[in-house]
Amino acid sequence: MSSYQIKNLEEYYQVYRKSVRDPENFWAEIAEEHFVWRKPWDKVLDWDFSKPEVKWFEGAQLNITENCIDRHLATQADKTAIIFEPNDPKEKAQHISYQQLHEKVCAFSNVLKDQGIKKGDRVCIYLPMIPELAVSILACARIGAIHSVVFAGFSSTAIASRINDCECNMVITSDGSFRGTKKIDLKGIVDEALESTPTIKSVLVVKRTEVPINMKEGRDHWVQPLLDKASMDCPIEIMNAEDPLFILYTSGSTGKPKGMMHTTAGYMVYSAYTFKNVFQYKVGDVYWCTADIGWITGHSYIVYGPLANGATTLMFEGVPNFPDFSRFWEIIEKHKVNQFYTAPTAIRALAKEKLDYVENHDLSSLKVLGTVGEPINEEAWHWYNDNVGKKKSPIVDTWWQTETGGIMISPIPYCTPTIPTYATLPLPGIQPALMDEQGKELKGNQVDGRLCIKFPWPGMARTIWGDHKRYKDTYFTAFENKYFTGDGALRDTVGYYRITGRVDDVIIVSGHNLGTAPIEDAINEHPAVAESAIVGFPHDVKGNALYGYVILKETGESRMHDNLRKEINQIITEHIGPIAKLDKIQFTEGLPKTRSGKIMRRILRKIACNETDSLGDTSTLLNPEVVQEIIDNKL
Ligand code: PRX
Repeated sequence: MSSYQIKNLEEYYQVYRKSVRDPENFWAEIAEEHFVWRKPWDKVLDWDFSKPEVKWFEGAQLNITENCIDRHLATQADKTAIIFEPNDPKEKAQHISYQQLHEKVCAFSNVLKDQGIKKGDRVCIYLPMIPELAVSILACARIGAIHSVVFAGFSSTAIASRINDCECNMVITSDGSFRGTKKIDLKGIVDEALESTPTIKSVLVVKRTEVPINMKEGRDHWVQPLLDKASMDCPIEIMNAEDPLFILYTSGSTGKPKGMMHTTAGYMVYSAYTFKNVFQYKVGDVYWCTADIGWITGHSYIVYGPLANGATTLMFEGVPNFPDFSRFWEIIEKHKVNQFYTAPTAIRALAKEKLDYVENHDLSSLKVLGTVGEPINEEAWHWYNDNVGKKKSPIVDTWWQTETGGIMISPIPYCTPTIPTYATLPLPGIQPALMDEQGKELKGNQVDGRLCIKFPWPGMARTIWGDHKRYKDTYFTAFENKYFTGDGALRDTVGYYRITGRVDDVIIVSGHNLGTAPIEDAINEHPAVAESAIVGFPHDVKGNALYGYVILKETGESRMHDNLRKEINQIITEHIGPIAKLDKIQFTEGLPKTRSGKIMRRILRKIACNETDSLGDTSTLLNPEVVQEIIDNKL
């Protein structure tokens, strides 16, 4: 039995059971029937979580762009692959057909080659949500270069550290970006980053805002004249199944960001299969994911997953509140969107606005609604269900991670009955386990613990670029022979999963994964700061916001404090980006510490969340007296 697209709950259970009983055949059948291979694999799966080492479809050869573009030309060359909806609604939307996408990607690939980029080289892409972002990603994949997309809201320091970590040779950027009424000088930010990136040899610049910028002779090139001269034919580079496809950085609870490395064949099969099922995509549908391609959601569910299925995928350059709060609904009506995938933080922000914005638009094309990035609260779920889906479009609450490459736990719409706040059931091929703190697996239902995955799946990241030990330590040592997600979850009486949130020092703010350590490191660079600690506290739009406790070297006068708060947020913006700014900064004389000197964040978190009656025993702290001082001065 092969069922690429599951049609009902019974079939889901059948397929799921098969995927657990015989995972290799399960994935081999999907891979064989639905993709183009230049050479078949010798072995479906080879794995050892103790190393950890995972290989899918070893021996196979392919190119992901042949699967995402070329193979569709025979049957649907004129079909729209990408709809581009610009920031300004007065600017015309673009419809890029599969044929045109092929031409654009080939031309871009040839430009990359002319610039000396070859298989295995790393290329940093720092672009706004314009078609060139998708095209340049695919061009890298076509010639076997490894793309490392950096979200175009990150600062120059963040770009430089990512470029240096994986030693990119090239940056692809634009003169600037449009975000609502703002124009952002992306090239200026890149120029600053490139002051400390010795490996960068060239910069390709896409023209978007037409704002004058500096072009460094010999290094920087406008891309359009090069594309105009390039051939629109570019043969694919034949890739091995396990050749790296991309690196994407994600925050860790400690230290520098982790360059998650994804490989070619497994990622392709997994992103395509999950896209087809979780969105129940049907021929002719228009699918829209509002994420930025700078995050994994955009990689897997704007670019690779949809295109591998020959779908029409919409890319939106702008923001939900420009020109006003009806923009999302206007786009759904304009392009007759069938599947709409967004984040809880966006839903919460839009739910605060008047209902007219939604009600004045015809949303009857919608068939499936999705959310991703953080737990969705019940209120937001109902608002989405009632007002956007009109109670007829199932909501898929999709749980997954940069590391997992694709959706792991999610309802299948029109199959799995949904319950608000539950991601429900594992997709075929995914074997979750809940663990207690002693490392024992919690069997049966009605349990909660730490969420692990006990069997490999094709989309999983294979390593952290340049640091396999960190990969092992972060994901494979907490629980023997299991991938540890960093999340807590419960399994209810019928086996549905509900994700309860991070159990480490990662805080999800507006759906963005932020590690506390890099933010604290940035704050501590301020000359007046001695030490700091960051925790999350609930926020009605962002989900969580950041609360910082800061010890100053000299107490100083409190009238200086507001200036210091601004400066601290400025440093964070420079080091990481505005998404990591603190909502509250409390200056304090001390931080609660264990006898071994470790900051007790649990106590700080409780104080920030106004849960001071459940602080627990603080008498064993090195400095129990600071707790009361912190409570008394809470903001
Ligand atoms: O804590 C989980 C949360 O987001 C984390 C992964 O973040 P990132 O790698 O940036 O990828 C986000 C997009 C896939 C997870 O460890 N998360 C993601 N989706 C959900 C979620 N938490 C609850 N429910 C979800 N649906």
